[in-house]
Amino acid sequence: MKRAQIVAGNWKMNLSFQEGRDLAKEIINNSSPNEVLMVLCPPFVHLNHLSTLVNGISHLEIGAQNCHHLSNGAYTGEVSAGMIKSVGCSFVIIGHSERREYFAENDELLTKKVDAVLGNGMRPIFCCGEKLETREADNQEALVQSQIENALFHLDSEAFSKIVIAYEPVWAIGTGRTASPEQAQEMHAFIRSLILKKYGHEIADSTPILYGGSCKPDNAAEIFSQPDVDGGLIGGASLKANDFIAIASSFPQH
Ligand code: 13P
Repeated sequence: MKRAQIVAGNWKMNLSFQEGRDLAKEIINNSSPNEVLMVLCPPFVHLNHLSTLVNGISHLEIGAQNCHHLSNGAYTGEVSAGMIKSVGCSFVIIGHSERREYFAENDELLTKKVDAVLGNGMRPIFCCGEKLETREADNQEALVQSQIENALFHLDSEAFSKIVIAYEPVWAIGTGRTASPEQAQEMHAFIRSLILKKYGHEIADSTPILYGGSCKPDNAAEIFSQPDVDGGLIGGASLKANDFIAIASSFPQH
Protein backbone atom coordinates (compact mmCIF):
# COMPACT_ATOMS: atom_id res chain seq x y z
CA MET A 1 0.00 0.00 0.00
CA LYS A 2 1.18 3.49 -0.80
CA ARG A 3 1.11 5.79 2.19
CA ALA A 4 0.49 9.54 2.17
CA GLN A 5 3.68 11.58 2.07
CA ILE A 6 3.46 14.62 4.32
CA VAL A 7 5.80 17.48 5.10
CA ALA A 8 4.48 19.72 7.88
CA GLY A 9 6.05 23.01 8.88
CA ASN A 10 5.87 23.84 12.58
CA TRP A 11 6.53 27.56 12.68
CA LYS A 12 6.46 27.51 16.51
CA MET A 13 6.26 31.03 18.01
CA ASN A 14 7.73 32.83 15.01
CA LEU A 15 6.71 35.38 12.37
CA SER A 16 4.44 38.43 12.42
CA PHE A 17 1.20 38.35 10.46
CA GLN A 18 2.90 40.06 7.49
CA GLU A 19 5.95 37.79 7.59
CA GLY A 20 3.75 34.71 7.78
CA ARG A 21 1.59 35.85 4.89
CA ASP A 22 4.69 36.51 2.77
CA LEU A 23 6.17 33.10 3.60
CA ALA A 24 2.92 31.31 2.78
CA LYS A 25 2.62 33.18 -0.54
CA GLU A 26 6.18 32.29 -1.46
CA ILE A 27 5.48 28.63 -0.72
CA ILE A 28 2.25 28.73 -2.71
CA ASN A 29 3.89 30.43 -5.70
CA ASN A 30 6.93 28.18 -5.81
CA SER A 31 5.52 24.74 -5.10
CA SER A 32 3.57 22.69 -7.57
CA PRO A 33 0.89 20.10 -6.98
CA ASN A 34 2.33 16.65 -6.56
CA GLU A 35 1.79 13.69 -4.29
CA VAL A 36 3.37 15.32 -1.24
CA LEU A 37 0.97 17.09 1.10
CA MET A 38 2.46 20.25 2.61
CA VAL A 39 0.91 21.38 5.89
CA LEU A 40 1.65 24.83 7.30
CA CYS A 41 1.29 25.04 11.10
CA PRO A 42 1.64 28.71 12.06
CA PRO A 43 0.68 30.44 15.33
CA PHE A 44 -3.08 30.86 15.85
CA VAL A 45 -3.26 34.44 14.57
CA HIS A 46 -2.24 33.30 11.07
CA LEU A 47 -4.67 30.41 10.70
CA ASN A 48 -7.69 32.20 9.30
CA HIS A 49 -5.81 34.14 6.64
CA LEU A 50 -3.58 31.27 5.56
CA SER A 51 -6.61 28.98 5.23
CA THR A 52 -8.13 31.38 2.71
CA LEU A 53 -4.80 31.64 0.85
CA VAL A 54 -4.51 27.85 0.35
CA ASN A 55 -8.19 27.28 -0.28
CA GLY A 56 -8.54 25.12 -3.39
CA ILE A 57 -4.81 24.24 -3.56
CA SER A 58 -4.74 20.47 -3.31
CA HIS A 59 -1.19 20.01 -1.99
CA LEU A 60 -1.44 22.58 0.82
CA GLU A 61 -3.34 22.42 4.11
CA ILE A 62 -3.25 24.43 7.33
CA GLY A 63 -2.80 23.09 10.86
CA ALA A 64 -2.65 24.53 14.35
CA GLN A 65 0.14 23.84 16.85
CA ASN A 66 -2.10 23.10 19.83
CA CYS A 67 -5.70 23.30 21.04
CA HIS A 68 -7.60 23.21 24.30
CA HIS A 69 -9.32 19.93 25.09
CA LEU A 70 -12.72 21.49 25.91
CA SER A 71 -15.08 23.07 23.40
CA ASN A 72 -15.67 26.44 25.09
CA GLY A 73 -15.86 28.19 28.43
CA ALA A 74 -14.02 30.45 30.86
CA TYR A 75 -10.45 29.49 29.90
CA THR A 76 -8.82 32.84 29.21
CA GLY A 77 -6.26 32.72 26.46
CA GLU A 78 -7.18 29.29 25.14
CA VAL A 79 -8.42 28.19 21.70
CA SER A 80 -10.66 25.17 21.12
CA ALA A 81 -10.49 22.56 18.38
CA GLY A 82 -13.90 23.69 17.13
CA MET A 83 -12.63 27.24 16.67
CA ILE A 84 -9.61 25.97 14.78
CA LYS A 85 -11.84 23.88 12.54
CA SER A 86 -14.08 26.88 11.93
CA VAL A 87 -11.29 28.83 10.23
CA GLY A 88 -10.55 26.00 7.79
CA CYS A 89 -7.80 23.95 9.45
CA SER A 90 -7.53 20.23 8.90
CA PHE A 91 -4.63 19.30 11.22
CA VAL A 92 -3.56 20.05 14.81
CA ILE A 93 -0.15 19.19 16.26
CA ILE A 94 -0.70 17.46 19.60
CA GLY A 95 1.85 16.61 22.26
CA HIS A 96 4.88 18.43 20.89
CA SER A 97 7.80 17.95 23.28
CA GLU A 98 7.94 21.70 23.89
CA ARG A 99 4.36 21.58 25.18
CA ARG A 100 5.09 18.51 27.28
CA GLU A 101 8.17 20.25 28.72
CA TYR A 102 7.09 23.90 29.16
CA PHE A 103 3.33 23.50 29.61
CA ALA A 104 3.31 20.26 31.60
CA GLU A 105 1.15 18.41 29.08
CA ASN A 106 0.85 14.76 30.08
CA ASP A 107 -0.59 11.66 28.43
CA GLU A 108 -3.95 12.05 30.15
CA LEU A 109 -4.43 15.58 28.82
CA LEU A 110 -3.14 14.63 25.38
CA THR A 111 -5.74 11.87 25.18
CA LYS A 112 -8.45 14.51 25.59
CA LYS A 113 -6.84 16.80 23.03
CA VAL A 114 -6.62 13.96 20.51
CA ASP A 115 -10.33 13.29 21.06
CA ALA A 116 -11.16 17.00 20.64
CA VAL A 117 -9.29 17.20 17.33
CA LEU A 118 -10.88 14.02 15.96
CA GLY A 119 -14.29 15.04 17.26
CA ASN A 120 -14.07 18.17 15.17
CA GLY A 121 -13.19 16.31 11.99
CA MET A 122 -9.50 17.21 11.92
CA ARG A 123 -6.38 15.02 12.05
CA PRO A 124 -3.97 15.08 15.00
CA ILE A 125 -0.26 15.13 14.20
CA PHE A 126 0.68 13.30 17.37
CA CYS A 127 4.26 13.88 18.54
CA CYS A 128 6.31 11.38 20.49
CA GLY A 129 10.01 11.04 21.20
CA GLU A 130 12.58 10.55 23.89
CA LYS A 131 15.01 12.86 25.66
CA LEU A 132 18.75 12.34 25.44
CA GLU A 133 19.07 10.61 28.81
CA THR A 134 16.42 8.10 27.78
CA ARG A 135 18.28 7.28 24.57
CA GLU A 136 21.56 7.02 26.44
CA ALA A 137 19.90 4.48 28.76
CA ASP A 138 18.55 2.69 25.66
CA ASN A 139 14.98 3.08 26.91
CA GLN A 140 13.67 5.00 23.91
CA GLU A 141 11.36 2.28 22.61
CA ALA A 142 9.65 1.74 25.98
CA LEU A 143 9.13 5.48 26.35
CA VAL A 144 7.70 6.01 22.87
CA GLN A 145 5.52 2.92 23.30
CA SER A 146 4.01 4.36 26.48
CA GLN A 147 3.43 7.77 24.86
CA ILE A 148 1.58 6.18 21.95
CA GLU A 149 -0.37 3.61 23.92
CA ASN A 150 -1.46 6.08 26.60
CA ALA A 151 -2.65 8.84 24.27
CA LEU A 152 -3.86 6.94 21.19
CA PHE A 153 -4.74 3.32 21.85
CA HIS A 154 -8.15 4.09 23.33
CA LEU A 155 -9.23 4.98 19.77
CA ASP A 156 -11.21 2.59 17.60
CA SER A 157 -9.87 1.69 14.16
CA GLU A 158 -11.94 4.29 12.34
CA ALA A 159 -10.64 7.09 14.59
CA PHE A 160 -7.06 5.82 14.58
CA SER A 161 -7.02 5.82 10.78
CA LYS A 162 -7.01 9.66 10.93
CA ILE A 163 -3.84 9.84 13.06
CA VAL A 164 -0.51 11.11 11.78
CA ILE A 165 2.43 10.28 14.06
CA ALA A 166 5.55 12.42 14.30
CA TYR A 167 8.62 10.86 15.90
CA GLU A 168 10.74 13.71 17.22
CA PRO A 169 13.70 12.72 19.38
CA VAL A 170 13.99 15.66 21.78
CA TRP A 171 17.79 15.68 21.51
CA ALA A 172 17.49 16.37 17.77
CA ILE A 173 15.08 19.33 17.97
CA GLY A 174 16.71 22.65 17.16
CA THR A 175 20.14 21.22 17.95
CA GLY A 176 21.45 20.57 14.45
CA ARG A 177 21.94 16.99 15.58
CA THR A 178 19.61 14.85 13.55
CA ALA A 179 18.86 11.18 14.16
CA SER A 180 20.74 8.99 11.72
CA PRO A 181 18.55 7.51 8.98
CA GLU A 182 19.03 4.13 10.69
CA GLN A 183 17.91 5.46 14.08
CA ALA A 184 14.84 7.04 12.49
CA GLN A 185 13.99 3.88 10.55
CA GLU A 186 14.43 1.69 13.61
CA MET A 187 12.00 3.75 15.69
CA HIS A 188 9.50 4.23 12.85
CA ALA A 189 9.44 0.47 12.22
CA PHE A 190 8.95 -0.10 15.95
CA ILE A 191 6.03 2.36 16.04
CA ARG A 192 4.47 0.67 13.02
CA SER A 193 4.81 -2.71 14.72
CA LEU A 194 2.87 -1.37 17.72
CA ILE A 195 0.10 -0.17 15.42
CA LEU A 196 0.11 -3.51 13.62
CA LYS A 197 -0.39 -5.45 16.85
CA LYS A 198 -3.23 -3.22 17.98
CA TYR A 199 -5.02 -2.32 14.73
CA GLY A 200 -3.86 -4.80 12.10
CA HIS A 201 -2.15 -4.56 8.72
CA GLU A 202 -4.38 -2.18 6.86
CA ILE A 203 -4.11 0.63 9.41
CA ALA A 204 -0.45 -0.03 10.22
CA ASP A 205 0.43 0.15 6.52
CA SER A 206 -1.49 3.37 5.95
CA THR A 207 -0.54 5.43 9.05
CA PRO A 208 1.91 8.19 8.08
CA ILE A 209 4.88 8.38 10.47
CA LEU A 210 6.88 11.60 10.10
CA TYR A 211 10.38 12.31 11.39
CA GLY A 212 11.16 15.60 13.14
CA GLY A 213 14.38 17.06 14.52
CA SER A 214 16.90 19.18 12.59
CA CYS A 215 15.51 17.98 9.27
CA LYS A 216 17.05 20.18 6.53
CA PRO A 217 17.31 20.17 2.73
CA ASP A 218 20.71 18.46 2.93
CA ASN A 219 19.62 15.51 5.08
CA ALA A 220 15.93 15.08 4.19
CA ALA A 221 16.48 12.79 1.19
CA GLU A 222 18.46 10.26 3.20
CA ILE A 223 15.88 10.22 6.01
CA PHE A 224 12.89 10.09 3.64
CA SER A 225 14.44 7.18 1.74
CA GLN A 226 13.88 4.93 4.76
CA PRO A 227 10.96 2.56 4.22
CA ASP A 228 8.98 3.56 7.32
CA VAL A 229 9.61 7.31 7.13
CA ASP A 230 6.69 9.01 5.39
CA GLY A 231 7.80 12.62 5.65
CA GLY A 232 8.82 15.21 8.19
CA LEU A 233 7.70 17.67 10.83
CA ILE A 234 9.99 20.59 10.18
CA GLY A 235 10.83 23.41 12.59
CA GLY A 236 13.56 25.91 11.70
CA ALA A 237 13.78 25.00 8.02
CA SER A 238 10.04 25.54 7.55
CA LEU A 239 10.56 29.29 8.04
CA LYS A 240 12.38 29.59 4.71
CA ALA A 241 10.23 28.89 1.64
CA ASN A 242 13.10 27.49 -0.43
CA ASP A 243 14.23 25.12 2.31
CA PHE A 244 10.72 23.93 3.06
CA ILE A 245 9.99 23.30 -0.62
CA ALA A 246 13.34 21.56 -1.06
CA ILE A 247 12.54 19.26 1.86
CA ALA A 248 9.11 18.49 0.38
CA SER A 249 10.90 17.58 -2.87
CA SER A 250 13.23 15.11 -1.13
CA PHE A 251 11.16 11.94 -1.42
CA PRO A 252 12.62 9.10 -3.48
CA GLN A 253 11.32 8.99 -7.03
CA HIS A 254 9.58 5.76 -7.96
P1 13P B 1 13.75 21.72 14.15
O1 13P B 1 13.49 21.27 12.72
O2 13P B 1 13.99 23.20 14.26
O3 13P B 1 14.80 20.88 14.80
O4 13P B 1 12.38 21.47 14.96
C1 13P B 1 11.77 20.24 14.86
C2 13P B 1 10.44 20.34 15.52
O5 13P B 1 10.34 20.47 16.72
C3 13P B 1 9.25 20.31 14.66
O6 13P B 1 8.09 20.17 15.41
